[in-house]
Amino acid sequence: MILVTGGAGFIGSNFVLDWLAQSDEAVINLDLLTYAGNRESLTSLLGDTRHIFVQGNIGDSTLVASLLQQHQPRAIINFAAESHVDRSIHGPADFIQTNIVSTFHLLEAVRIYWNNLHTDAKQVFRFLHISTDEVYGSLTKDEPAFAEAHPYQPNSPYSASKAASDHLVRAYHHTYGLPVLTTNCSNNYGPHHFPEKLIPLMIVNALAGKPLPVYGDGQQIRDWLYVKDHCSAIRRVLDAGKVGEVYNIGGWNEKPNIEIVRTICTLLDQLQTRTDRKSYSEQITYVTDRPGHDRRYAIDASKIARELGWKPVETFDSGIRKTIAWYLANQDWVNNVTSGAYKNWIEQHYKAQP
Ligand code: NAD
Ligand code: DAU
Repeated sequence: MILVTGGAGFIGSNFVLDWLAQSDEAVINLDLLTYAGNRESLTSLLGDTRHIFVQGNIGDSTLVASLLQQHQPRAIINFAAESHVDRSIHGPADFIQTNIVSTFHLLEAVRIYWNNLHTDAKQVFRFLHISTDEVYGSLTKDEPAFAEAHPYQPNSPYSASKAASDHLVRAYHHTYGLPVLTTNCSNNYGPHHFPEKLIPLMIVNALAGKPLPVYGDGQQIRDWLYVKDHCSAIRRVLDAGKVGEVYNIGGWNEKPNIEIVRTICTLLDQLQTRTDRKSYSEQITYVTDRPGHDRRYAIDASKIARELGWKPVETFDSGIRKTIAWYLANQDWVNNVTSGAYKNWIEQHYKAQP
């Protein structure tokens, strides 16, 4: 079996659902269920004995050691993290604690477990660390996309904490020989995306008749990848990635934020026309920029294509249509996850805006 951490979050839950749709290999899912973890994303697995959910912290060495001892996983895929840049600006402490300190405790528990495995199991074992393109910093309009050798230049407390965890993972391979793989992916979108991030926030706000808050001039560029494509890339890296290597994952799909927001409005105009027949784009509101806002991310995903034969299946057009259709069909999920704590965050974060 495999151990997935953070498997009740956005990408982790998509990964667990896809894994069990394609394989009978069981999954232990260790998730603390922070505000970003939602068991509602995993309801289709209720009663499925291949899915063992454990609520707990990756930084709890005793718990992790006992799970490893009991279940003897052949691989660990580490999604668990604090993931929202704006939250890291309001309060970086949780990011340092989870993304750096708890990842360190996880690595220590895994190192002890791996050291005690017999030779064959030791050889096949893998620790796959899920990271982000944000560790590479920001690009100007004309610079080439981030390749794996791009220097680390993280600019937010979030990306700095992810960079630190990447360095720890690398060091555990270099120093102790732990068989690690690291992936650095661009912006994901798709089902079960928590509506604090750009795409789900715009869909949810549009439908609720609320402003669509675009930071600064809206010309910041992100490289969007449909989440199921990210999941297939992770499975491919786990199967065939070379130990100690880093693989960048991206959608070859750079778009300015304002274009993303306008596309969502246009599609919603077709799929769920406003009662007053006006366009959702009337709700677009330019608001104060994010401090230290990275201007452009772009991933050069040629290494994973060349060495592992992976490329994304979805175009942005097909992926965003699926995403909007999912949010329209799953308003109960949205209602369940946008609880009191969510409302407090939205109120606090956007309060100074017109
Ligand atoms: P998310 O915030 O939606 O989910 C994170 C999950 O981790 C939640 O279920 C949460 O409960 C859990 N968690 C947090 N702290 C934990 C702890 N100490 N112990 C156990 N579980 C804990 O995040 P996401 O968007 O799904 O991102 C998953 C991973 O992928 C992160 O490492 C993130 O840095 C990385 N990543 C995300 C994107 C993206 O666009 N969302 C892109 C590239 C990389
Ligand atoms: O690049 C990968 C990263 O993508 C991941 O590592 C992070 O976990 C993930 O959150 C994401 O980070 P971003 O900061 O790029 O994503 P976010 O959805 O927060 O913002 C996307 C862009 O949209 C960014 O330029 C900021 C802008 N934005 C965001 C929000 C929430 C707005 O203009 N308005 C908003 O209300």
